[in-house]
Amino acid sequence: MSVPIIKSPRAMRQWTFEQRCAGRTVGLVPTMGGLHEGHASLMRESVSCNDVSVLSIFVNPAQFAPHEDFDRYPRTFEADLALAEGIGIDAVYAPTSSSMYGQDFASYLTVERVQDGLCGGSRPHFFRGVATVVTKLFNAVLPHRAYFGQKDAQQCAVIKRMVRDLDFDIEVVELPIVRDADGLALSSRNQYLSSAERLEALNLSKALARGLELMQRGERDIRRIEEAVRAELADLDIDYVAVVDADSIEPLAVAQGNVLLAAAAHVGATRLIDNVKYTFPESAADGFPRADSRKREYAISAK
Ligand code: PAF
Repeated sequence: MSVPIIKSPRAMRQWTFEQRCAGRTVGLVPTMGGLHEGHASLMRESVSCNDVSVLSIFVNPAQFAPHEDFDRYPRTFEADLALAEGIGIDAVYAPTSSSMYGQDFASYLTVERVQDGLCGGSRPHFFRGVATVVTKLFNAVLPHRAYFGQKDAQQCAVIKRMVRDLDFDIEVVELPIVRDADGLALSSRNQYLSSAERLEALNLSKALARGLELMQRGERDIRRIEEAVRAELADLDIDYVAVVDADSIEPLAVAQGNVLLAAAAHVGATRLIDNVKYTFPESAADGFPRADSRKREYAISAK
């Protein structure tokens, strides 16, 4: 039997209502289509952790500025459907534009501060569109769990904060970035790259790996980490390189705790993003006792 394709919020809620009444847990994988192995990893996780799983496919006009690639964005519905079916997705929610944004649509959601830096700096419309559409998807699908990829780390932070602040009873699951064998983070927009541009794009993951290496060696000076990454990206048109707190996306005075090192750059006409996360070990600099200072205290009190 082929997977049902549901086209309106009302029909979607009816489907979920029946699943919930039967005592089944519902997982949601929100996407804009153009699916790749990164999306497949989210779908597999949802299928293995929930009784039923919904894939949503909707190219959301509210998260594109007029000069961006809304018209060009990959639309590969039949291939997406085949991939979802093969993984065991139980329903595809593919709402029409008119059922999502009626003529008089006027209600948008903003997640203050978390949405401001990084991608929010160069795409000021973006997170308002994402938060609004994800809220609408949540309200239609009513999932127990929703799955997002770390490649869009700021998007994950925005959605987690929104879920927390607005009391959505949904677990947000963030899964690791899926990369090609040479390190390039998978993205629907990689399809835009020529083979020469694809080679250039590899600098992004290489530069972030350099930044990660520095942090792993104990570098906590944010300017030095960012400069090292920028140096590796010298041939690209850099949008930003930033080390921020991984949860709040706010700037840090010094690298500590859970850190997100993120970068965005233009390769030809294509804007790509990538990131790495790192958790610094606790140290005296963070206000925690060092392991060796605890040892000394013990030695003194043992006397
Ligand atoms: O990550 C995406 O594909 C989109 O931003 C999302 C979350 C489906 C909202 O349109």
